[in-house]
Amino acid sequence: MSLMKLDVAKSGVVITPEMKAAAQKANELLHSGEGAGNDFLGWVNLPSSIDAEQIAAIEAQAAKLREKAEVVICIGIGGSYLGAKAVIEAMSNSFEFLNKKHANPTVVFAGQNISEDYTHELLEATKEYSVAAIVISKSGTTTEPAIAFRLIKAELEKRYGKAEAAERIVAITDAARGALKTLATQEGYPTFVIPDDVGGRFSVLTPVGLLPLAVAGIDIKALVAGAQAMEKATAADVAVEENLAAQYAIVRNELYKAGKKVEILGSYEPKLQYVAEWWKQLYGESEGKDGLGIFPASVTLTADLHSMGQYIQEGERTLFETIISVENAKHTVTVEAEEANLDGLNFLAGKRISEINKMAELGVRLAHIDGGVPQLCIEIPAIDETSIGALIYFFEKACGISGYILGVNPFNQPGVEAYKKNMFALLDKPGYEEESKAIKARL
Ligand code: PA5
Repeated sequence: MSLMKLDVAKSGVVITPEMKAAAQKANELLHSGEGAGNDFLGWVNLPSSIDAEQIAAIEAQAAKLREKAEVVICIGIGGSYLGAKAVIEAMSNSFEFLNKKHANPTVVFAGQNISEDYTHELLEATKEYSVAAIVISKSGTTTEPAIAFRLIKAELEKRYGKAEAAERIVAITDAARGALKTLATQEGYPTFVIPDDVGGRFSVLTPVGLLPLAVAGIDIKALVAGAQAMEKATAADVAVEENLAAQYAIVRNELYKAGKKVEILGSYEPKLQYVAEWWKQLYGESEGKDGLGIFPASVTLTADLHSMGQYIQEGERTLFETIISVENAKHTVTVEAEEANLDGLNFLAGKRISEINKMAELGVRLAHIDGGVPQLCIEIPAIDETSIGALIYFFEKACGISGYILGVNPFNQPGVEAYKKNMFALLDKPGYEEESKAIKARL
């Protein structure tokens, strides 16, 4: 079974030798470390560098949390949140919340917003369960997770006492720097390190993603194996004809040059909704700079055909679509024939729901092509750990290549600082006195 298929035939882009050469060069730069942002290339060979010992350490820590807690609160934002959220959503039963006998602890998230109601409801809802927490921040200084952690730490210490709380909290952060590192050392929390050379949005295959996933009962070995296979399949010595990440990077850049400024990532599997959220962060933060970059958007289908479908079909012609198509459903549900046929659906009798879904997918693809929306299709065999691991690395590699083709440094995010400065000034953070005066004069 192939890891993944990529169909770019309906994109209208014909890949030329020049385009291939540019993508090949970009991929080589990622491997040689001679391109922009080269101190953040630790993700390139990350899957193949994960050894059995690292997996065992993560699984052992996960087992301790699984034993102690019915609910594990995972605290983080951006790259310290979206990867775990995406894989857990993809791998979980959509109706797990109705299941009274959970086989795995429920992983919930905090620190990805500053909503008072969200925070209150989380603290209230988890009161009747035994709780543990994983706090994740590479910089160790990000405000949103720091606030959430202060509250959750206090709650755990109130409930279990300081010593037991320290057994129920795991910190994932920088090896040496940041407030979270200082706090974790002082409180004696078990700690995992985010490698210096792996940026937040490329960190899902480090303990940042792997620990919450192992807690949730996901097979992280298979996830990593999928990523390892994709690492091989997109290596610097793989020709562009065989390298799907290079092809995807080429086609999206050509479409961008042709005026297609928005890429919509769509899927007919609602479980993949957060994979699209993770992808949006990966591409948005990596490429959206210097006045450049495709705007990454997403839809979940067929639901969004009844909201965004009209725009995609007939709105501004600045869009192209990339569909993640899933070859095999895990379960079988068939439409039965009915004698009365009052709903007129007997023409579907005997068909699996996945066959109907596939025809919707094909029909929409052709309609959107007719409407001037170029189409790319990434097909994965199934929603399982191996395929998702491969998909993660595919998107990461394509993002690095694509950013270099575009001519930006895909590994920084200078624009994220602007809001922080304003927020700190408005909140009178010590050290921001001048900014405080200036911003308040603007209100
Ligand atoms: O990709 C990135 O670097 C960012 O999105 C970070 O992941 C995000 O800002 C969270 O940062 P930190 O892990 O330092 O709290």
